[in-house]
Amino acid sequence: MNSIFTGISELYTPTERLTQAALAVSEGEIVWLGPESALPESYRGWPTTGLGERGVLPGLVDSHTHLVWAGDRLEEYLRRARGESYEAILLAGSGIHQTVSATQQASEDELYELAQARARVLLQGGVTALEVKSGYGLSLEHELKMLRVIRRLRQAGPQRITATLLAHVIPSGVKRDGYLEMFTTELIPEVARTGLAEALDVFIDEGAFSVAEGRRVFEAARRHGLAIKGHAEQLTHTGATRLICELGGLSADHLEQATEQDWRALAGSGTVGTLLPLAALLLRKPFPEARAMWDLGVKVAVATDHNPGSSPLFSLLLALQLTVALGGLSVEEALVAGTRHAADALGQVCWGRLTPGAVADFVVVDGPQALTPLYHWGHAPIAGVYVAGRPVMAVR
Ligand code: NIG
Ligand code: FE
Repeated sequence: MNSIFTGISELYTPTERLTQAALAVSEGEIVWLGPESALPESYRGWPTTGLGERGVLPGLVDSHTHLVWAGDRLEEYLRRARGESYEAILLAGSGIHQTVSATQQASEDELYELAQARARVLLQGGVTALEVKSGYGLSLEHELKMLRVIRRLRQAGPQRITATLLAHVIPSGVKRDGYLEMFTTELIPEVARTGLAEALDVFIDEGAFSVAEGRRVFEAARRHGLAIKGHAEQLTHTGATRLICELGGLSADHLEQATEQDWRALAGSGTVGTLLPLAALLLRKPFPEARAMWDLGVKVAVATDHNPGSSPLFSLLLALQLTVALGGLSVEEALVAGTRHAADALGQVCWGRLTPGAVADFVVVDGPQALTPLYHWGHAPIAGVYVAGRPVMAVR
């Protein structure tokens, strides 16, 4: 299927800005973009959609979410707001463990309905692609159940979804070594065999896994052809970032406690540094040094970290805005962090950008200025969303 989009007042690729632009799309991919006046003759007969002099942005990419979960953690949220710490609640056996028991008890259908509704909210905020992690199952059976839910989300669309197997914490009452043995010799091979995830993530921190345990899990993942990424330097500094860089990981995420040495390791590797602003704020951690990292040459991405505990966030735009207000990125840089760099953090170099050869996933802004969604807080001025050149949220 071929189509042309015209009537684009302003477009960010995201690294370049075009005005009075047009896009040519064939079979869901961009084949041409440029000034409307320069549209090649060969495309002029294609079916044309006029976007009404509106701005266009690449579809946003949420590269770190825990979208599949049951139950809620409102009570914990209230306790933390009164001053109790996330770590103390986790070490006392609640926090993540509470979501684990609710998620274990939920059926696959229930989890699917809950996650699909959340993906819909993200879509309304311009997210056309997202990563979804397991990690609230904590047994072979329930981790596979979560990954099957993610596969259903992917099959149902409309967003593009990547799945990540997450080694989150050791389940209560289970021996560390036994869990690690099951994870590395049964779960990882089964996930790789069935293609239920393309990447593996380890939460390396106090109350979760050590760097040595992380290495053991990463090495098993690599042997089975899974890409690697990790929760690094969130609650405490562990050295996980350097391990992930050394192993050629896709991304090191969080980085609240990262040091300049960690930033340099990221800058010197292909590993993306993913920042999760709401988790930093709600857990009262240092806000990640986005500006300093960017200036050192780190490829910085920003994601929601959507989860019921540390970051109950349903808007990637809000995460980008916080990184501008508190992390010192420019608005244009934040857009790159939530599109192109985020796609790179998923190993998906044809997502998150509007260039020939990339997927035709884009957001039509409700107005002529393309950056307005990063300027208006708390409401997304979005007129329509397209995935693979097809409308998935109607143009108003
Ligand atoms: O990215 N840090 C570990 N995991 C999640 C939080 C999960 C939860 O609190 O349920 C995070 O912050
Ligand atoms: Fe997370």
